[in-house]
Amino acid sequence: MSLTEVTPSPAPVSFRPAAPRRPDKPVGPIGFLLGMWTNPLSTWSRQSFELPVVRADGVMGKVTVISDPAAIRHVFVDNVANYRKDALQLRVLSPGLGNGLLTAEGDEWRAQRRALAPLFTPRVVETFEPAMIECAEWLTARWAPLREGRRLDVSAEMSRVTLEVLQRTIFPAGLKRDPSDFATAMSRYFDRIGQVHPFDVLGLPKWAPRVGKRDTTRELRFFAEATADLVAERRATLDDRPDAPRPRDLLGLLLTARDPQTGEGLTEAEINANILTFIGAGHETTAAGLTWALYLLSQRPEWRARVEAEVDDVLAEGFRGPETIDRLVAVRATFEEALRLYPPAATLSREAIGPDEVAGHAIRAGETIVVSPWVLQRHRTLWERPDDFVPERFMPGARDTIDRFTYLPFGAGPRVCIGMGFAMREGVILLASMLRRFRFDLAPGHEVEPVQRITVRPRGGMPMILRHR
Ligand code: HEM
Repeated sequence: MSLTEVTPSPAPVSFRPAAPRRPDKPVGPIGFLLGMWTNPLSTWSRQSFELPVVRADGVMGKVTVISDPAAIRHVFVDNVANYRKDALQLRVLSPGLGNGLLTAEGDEWRAQRRALAPLFTPRVVETFEPAMIECAEWLTARWAPLREGRRLDVSAEMSRVTLEVLQRTIFPAGLKRDPSDFATAMSRYFDRIGQVHPFDVLGLPKWAPRVGKRDTTRELRFFAEATADLVAERRATLDDRPDAPRPRDLLGLLLTARDPQTGEGLTEAEINANILTFIGAGHETTAAGLTWALYLLSQRPEWRARVEAEVDDVLAEGFRGPETIDRLVAVRATFEEALRLYPPAATLSREAIGPDEVAGHAIRAGETIVVSPWVLQRHRTLWERPDDFVPERFMPGARDTIDRFTYLPFGAGPRVCIGMGFAMREGVILLASMLRRFRFDLAPGHEVEPVQRITVRPRGGMPMILRHR
């Protein structure tokens, strides 16, 4: 595809949002280990953003980073059976997320995906809309009494409201803990496991002490107890009233799922891992996307004015069903551009099961393939003004020219994010509702720094100044 086919008309005003400095040359082994520990985003050198394929043979063995849309399609779709999630990813995620949907493989993954898919069809996600709107109202009512000019950590606020959305949609019976405590524990947990220890990169055995790695025992205990309470309460209800209609929420589906071949249900460990997977994958990601969207809007006031005008017009009579959301095109474009510049899931990685050929390179069994939305979505050959905030590129018309495999905030292929439709709807509803009533400016003097800690989030939060509209 030629550049002209994928480019929007230039935006009138330019703004280059915060990003780590790119080393001119690929970082050496020590720099890489250090970078993985402090901020994996800082390990990407200039050439990654310029070449379609970068091969390395370093501390992680042979790694091929691909930013070539056809090659990505090959690995994620056409020859997907030859790839599985790689060992490092599993080492980082498994302590908490166990064999939940995000980390399971093969038949186990297939059975879980089949069992949970009914909760995420477009029709079911549409039924979550009123609850998402209620959460948006809950958030704006929370801010209404705050004085003009009040400083708020928008990042924490977004974590809290997206957790509220999960509580009122896929966990309607609640999470059995104070949602603020849950949001804090999850944020702290991701912060800690997302600091990838050199020993984990090197694949050293578990018994080798990870000096410097912050302990997550407390958070894991908190999650385990909350999950156990949730499951116990639901089982008791099912036992007490066996004939009562079974709620088709996440917990209901997890508890009643049966493998069509064996008739077996999910194990207790799988159920627990999935509860945590959906809480983790389902709120920190969307929260990060919304936080970045508010930051980006604050830096392009003329675009923000345009989005505000759209919101005032479309929401003059409130949300009136899915058509209202379809009309919020500038809000959606802003959210999509935020997910381009700051993809919450910045690295997707796979391990080759057998030999393959990718973009003309021979891949041997066991080698790692990395597709980084962070790199791909800022790649010089695929995007015009790749590092600038240009939401116009996602406006109707321009959006259709974007190749499916150059924009992967939700991944692709059979393991594409199950919550994609959910997150997009939620993102548009929350963003539009916030912008209808409030305007945020970055706190003066605050230096924004994106850091990858499972999700890409602002280091130290995102302090912003609240203004009433
Ligand atoms: C902006 C928000 C979100 C982003 C950027 C995002 C991103 C992603 C990505 C990139 C993957 C694929 C990972 C891979 O291929 O290795 C994924 C998978 C997944 N996501 Fe999301 N996600 C978001 C929201 C959600 C929500 C709202 C939920 C649930 C309510 C969710 C649940 C999951 C699950 C369970 C998987 C594993 C799917 C599978 O392997 O079958 N995500 N997500």
